[in-house]
Amino acid sequence: MNTIIIDGKRTAERVRDKLRTAIEQLKQAGHIPGLAVVLVGENPASQVYVNSKVKACEELGIYSQKWSLPTETSQKELLELIDRLNHDDRIHGILVQSPPPPHIDEAAVVLRIDPRKDVDGFHPVNVAKLVMEDPSGFVPCTPMGCMELLKEYGIETQGKHAVIIGRSMIVGKPMAHLLMGKHANATVTVAHSRTTDLAGLCRTADILVAAVGRPGLVTAQYVKPGAVVLDVGINRVEDSTRPRGYRIVGDVDYAEVAPICRAITPVPGGVGPMTIAMLMANTVKACRAACGVG
Ligand code: GUN
Repeated sequence: MNTIIIDGKRTAERVRDKLRTAIEQLKQAGHIPGLAVVLVGENPASQVYVNSKVKACEELGIYSQKWSLPTETSQKELLELIDRLNHDDRIHGILVQSPPPPHIDEAAVVLRIDPRKDVDGFHPVNVAKLVMEDPSGFVPCTPMGCMELLKEYGIETQGKHAVIIGRSMIVGKPMAHLLMGKHANATVTVAHSRTTDLAGLCRTADILVAAVGRPGLVTAQYVKPGAVVLDVGINRVEDSTRPRGYRIVGDVDYAEVAPICRAITPVPGGVGPMTIAMLMANTVKACRAACGVG
């Protein structure tokens, strides 16, 4: 099979090009989009993600603040920072990198963010807007990036069976809503760790989305020939041949699966770059809404 390798880097660049124009227009009207990125603790992967987000802002001319807080930061201190950012007119988007250290109540933190600045789309107001298909809400960046890739590559979703492995609030659940919604019209099954005969179920999928964080879980026996496979996993696996001592792999056994599917996202270079591009898009959207522009 002539497999289409879905290029997230190139698609993200196209999204960024469109955003450059929008940001320029906002600037001419006297508005600069602003994003605050908050990291509590020293999770190495989170540090990489947060730095990439700040760098993406710099490249696009989005004002950014990076808050790297020590692991011992209390819940109260974090909530106070969010209150300040909620009232800072330069900031249109607030993102608290997940996962925080265990003593932080993540749900309470998300609840404290002004829903109009919740560019992650995690606040219950935005979750409800997604479920209700209200376009004024913010949609979580990773599933939004997946939908953008399907659109960019002309992959039909209507009437297709989509199976999502993973039921997280960040990917699985919002992805299910986007795919079942009136813009995509897919029939959706959400699978998880307790699903019986996961491989058999996945083999019924026309579109398979893997978002569980289990390296190489999806092997060829999970995939119907000709299916479209979106790999959301970003897993570090030890590799002594690499300078850093690890390499990044997805939830899909790429070597085994790529030859049998119609299209697949590689890791890295597939869904990952789209997440950040969509975060930038949400920040611009938040700025526009705050400034009453288009
Ligand atoms: N951790 C992994 N993905 C995400 C994301 O999209 N947003 C935040 N805030 N944390 C994450």
